[in-house]
Amino acid sequence: MTQSNPHGFEGGLEFKCLQTFTTTVGTFRRFFNLLKAIAALLFFAIWLTIRDIYYVPGHGGVWPQFQAPIQATDSRSPCPALNALANHDILPRNGKHISYKQMSHAIQHAYHLAPSLADQLTASAYQLEQGRGWIDLQDLSALNVIQHDASFTRPDIAFCPDQSVPHPDLVDKFLSHASNGKFLSLNDIVYFSGLRRAECKRSNGQYSMTWSFLHQFSGSGNNALMHSIFGGDVDDLRIWLAEERFPDQWEPRNREAKGHTIMQAMSKTLIIELNINEKQKLRSENTALNQTREP
Ligand code: HEM
Repeated sequence: MTQSNPHGFEGGLEFKCLQTFTTTVGTFRRFFNLLKAIAALLFFAIWLTIRDIYYVPGHGGVWPQFQAPIQATDSRSPCPALNALANHDILPRNGKHISYKQMSHAIQHAYHLAPSLADQLTASAYQLEQGRGWIDLQDLSALNVIQHDASFTRPDIAFCPDQSVPHPDLVDKFLSHASNGKFLSLNDIVYFSGLRRAECKRSNGQYSMTWSFLHQFSGSGNNALMHSIFGGDVDDLRIWLAEERFPDQWEPRNREAKGHTIMQAMSKTLIIELNINEKQKLRSENTALNQTREP
């Protein structure tokens, strides 16, 4: 016995029409939902980008007025980072009576460091303060506390007791080691560190870095920071190292959300320090003849 279609033939057709209609509506609804989801995602990405631009560090490249230090009265250190801050009045222009809080706050914001790294760097100066709670920048020149031989911008203290001013000829020498002429790579910094240590050891009878692993490590630490913050840019570094000034429109190159961290600084420091070889094969421009000359 044949079962009769409960809807009959016409009912089946009606059902099929309804089905086609609901399927089409369903398709459009889903397509519309998909468009809504894509629009929301796009909106979210644009919103994130706008917020991200707002959080970009660097003060938009605008720094307080630079003024060269007055040699007779202003206090300056062997550190280009701190001297530049004083020369721009971010730290006191006279470089005196600087508290740790002030120092940590200034380096954190100017160089876009995580507060933890800013505090760690500042803590290195505790050894010099003798219970006062503040230091003058000049205090940082004490040999083998933080200051050490084989710097990139100052001759060793045995040749140059005043460690507060950079020597542009040494800066030029360092920067001339950028293998592509424009940016110093980590390899260039490693190479120059080996070269500088070897030549200082050779020419300075009072050279003090050989067994001073702490100073070797802190020297590489300074150079690692410099590399992260300036991206090795030779033009910017020339101004910062030789004049202790921020280039016009300059902003730190490091763009971490909450600033450059101790971990990042440590890992780059280790990469530099562990690759330094004072007996390395010299590049052609650093012939044996050059190496016998005074640094
Ligand atoms: C409060 C924190 C800091 C203190 C107490 C400090 C102290 C010093 C001292 C004493 C030196 C001399 C080392 C030497 O004899 O070569 C030095 C060098 C240096 N510092 Fe700082 N520093 C601080 C923060 C920074 C920061 C944030 C940077 C990175 C922007 C930096 C970059 C450098 C560089 C590149 C050198 C090596 C200069 C050269 O080789 O001639 N310092 N610092």
